[in-house]
Amino acid sequence: MCGIIAVVQERGDVAPFLHQALKRLEYRGYDSVGVTTIANNKMYTKKDKGKIEEVHRRLNLDEMPGLIGIGHTRWATHGAPSMSNAHPHFDCENKIAVVHNGVIDNFMELRKNLSEKGHKFNSETDTEVIPHMIEDLMKEGLNLVESIKEVTKRIEGTYAIVAMSTKENDKIVCTRDGNPLVIGTKSGASYVSSDIPAFLPITNDMILLLDGEIASLTNQGIHIERLSDGEIVSRDSIKISWTADQAQKSGYPHFMLKEIHEQPDAIRKTLRLRSETIETAARLIREAENVYILAMGTSGHAAKAGRHMFASLSGILPSFELASDFQDTVYGSLSERDCIIAITQSGETTDTITAVKYAKHYGAKIIAITNVVGSSITRLADHTVLTQAGPEIGVAATKTFMVQLTSLALIALALGEMTGFKESEEIVKKRSSLEKLPELVSEVISRNEERARKLASILYEKPSLLFLGRGVSMATAEEGALKLKEIAYNHAEAYSAGESKHGPIALVQDGYPVIFVVPSDETRNRIIGNIMEMKARGATIISVTQKEDVEITELSDYVFTVPEITEAEFSVMPYVVPLQLFSYYMALRNGYDPDKPRNLAKSVTVL
Ligand code: AGP
Ligand code: GLU
Repeated sequence: MCGIIAVVQERGDVAPFLHQALKRLEYRGYDSVGVTTIANNKMYTKKDKGKIEEVHRRLNLDEMPGLIGIGHTRWATHGAPSMSNAHPHFDCENKIAVVHNGVIDNFMELRKNLSEKGHKFNSETDTEVIPHMIEDLMKEGLNLVESIKEVTKRIEGTYAIVAMSTKENDKIVCTRDGNPLVIGTKSGASYVSSDIPAFLPITNDMILLLDGEIASLTNQGIHIERLSDGEIVSRDSIKISWTADQAQKSGYPHFMLKEIHEQPDAIRKTLRLRSETIETAARLIREAENVYILAMGTSGHAAKAGRHMFASLSGILPSFELASDFQDTVYGSLSERDCIIAITQSGETTDTITAVKYAKHYGAKIIAITNVVGSSITRLADHTVLTQAGPEIGVAATKTFMVQLTSLALIALALGEMTGFKESEEIVKKRSSLEKLPELVSEVISRNEERARKLASILYEKPSLLFLGRGVSMATAEEGALKLKEIAYNHAEAYSAGESKHGPIALVQDGYPVIFVVPSDETRNRIIGNIMEMKARGATIISVTQKEDVEITELSDYVFTVPEITEAEFSVMPYVVPLQLFSYYMALRNGYDPDKPRNLAKSVTVL
């Protein structure tokens, strides 16, 4: 939620870079945007409500003087999207500029105290208390770093904060607790941002900033200290293997479509994960007394599919829990003999991080499956499986879902070898079927893209759709429904086909669209019964099924087809692809930008 970028450099105005970097961060929040630079000891600010390009057309974000600047793209939590609520925020004298990601829980009390001292507020945000507090502290004689250290003692909540002041105009100061910040380094310039793609075209050298640390950046380098004891932190930079190209659209109209097409390659790369990484995860699961898989949203659907893979290949059935509800479900019934598998593509989802911290408190072992190197979850985990999707910019997760499934499949196979639940020849056969998935998914894309586009042009006005599956295909149905509602805004619900007759069937009347996920596994014949029930009530039947399945094809009004996949456990991977494409084209038909769904942000860093 919200994108932060700041840069200080030896030569050249920073404004054009900040503008481009904000565009690369726009997926994190896009209700308003703002940039402040400092030149000749003066602040220059342009900010307004709207998407970056709209604001740029009005204000020209490229034309601002200064070798130092900060920018922000907002996802509002406190105060509606508006010019005055857009970041940066300032002190009374316009000498201190602050951008913030997160929520300051005790802002009301702080604001009241500051107002009583005579501070004037220009926004409704929680953020604005920060520059006013810094103002007072600097007036007491503290420098910028010291003031921000003091501010961190007074604020409660989660935050990533970046600040600069005309009084120390060669410096950017940043700190974090709970929300991400990464530092980019290059000779003659330093960068700090919420996410790596912001500075990828300029540098691949990144330094992690951890919670409870404060960094001061100049064009000559960076200095990091630990807030608790003032200890100087010396940390080597990490080379990021992502390329700037990966974070561009490369000719596709939207990131989402590009990322759907990148899935075969993402699976291929994830299949090459080191076997030690996979085996360590499997061993931790094997040794545990209770195993829980925690995640949110799309990652939650990967978790549910993973649960089936584990049960079927290794005989171990973990409990799935929504991370947001974990502590309200387990009520402290955890111990150091338990193992948590936390899945989060961003590695920053607060619900997931909070659940993991809770489990750690009881000594449980943590396995993280994430796509972002150095993300918060990796620092909490005992062991990390780093999926290889490259940067995912579309707010709707696609390729990161695919690599989560791939890594879960690899772990399930390794676990299966350890438990001996399946004959080893069977594990070998399943492994080789997994190896074929990149080609299979490629074929699914080319077979179904045009069909998805056509079907969207038929169904786009339908106010509501049902997605039904059984067994592991429930994960496919749930993911299909989530994709559709989040980007195309058609109401969609996923149900177990078995459960559908216990209530949801009441919705069905002539022409009501029901999408069935029907792989050729042991659920197929039972699903035929459910198709018949829906047909009898006039539903329009859309099936995702195996290409040779004549019976299902004949029962359906429309079909998406998938080449034969013998391994039922892995069927979510090819079967979800037509539903991703369908949602994409439904969003276009409904006139929405699939990369920037309303009210959503790429990583949800509030509880
Ligand atoms: C997916 O399309 C959604 N944007 C959302 O449900 C997402 O999967 C969820 O917020 C979890 O994110 P994470 O994987 O980064 O933890
Ligand atoms: N709470 C701040 C606001 O509402 C920051 C939100 C964000 O992370 O974008 O402005």
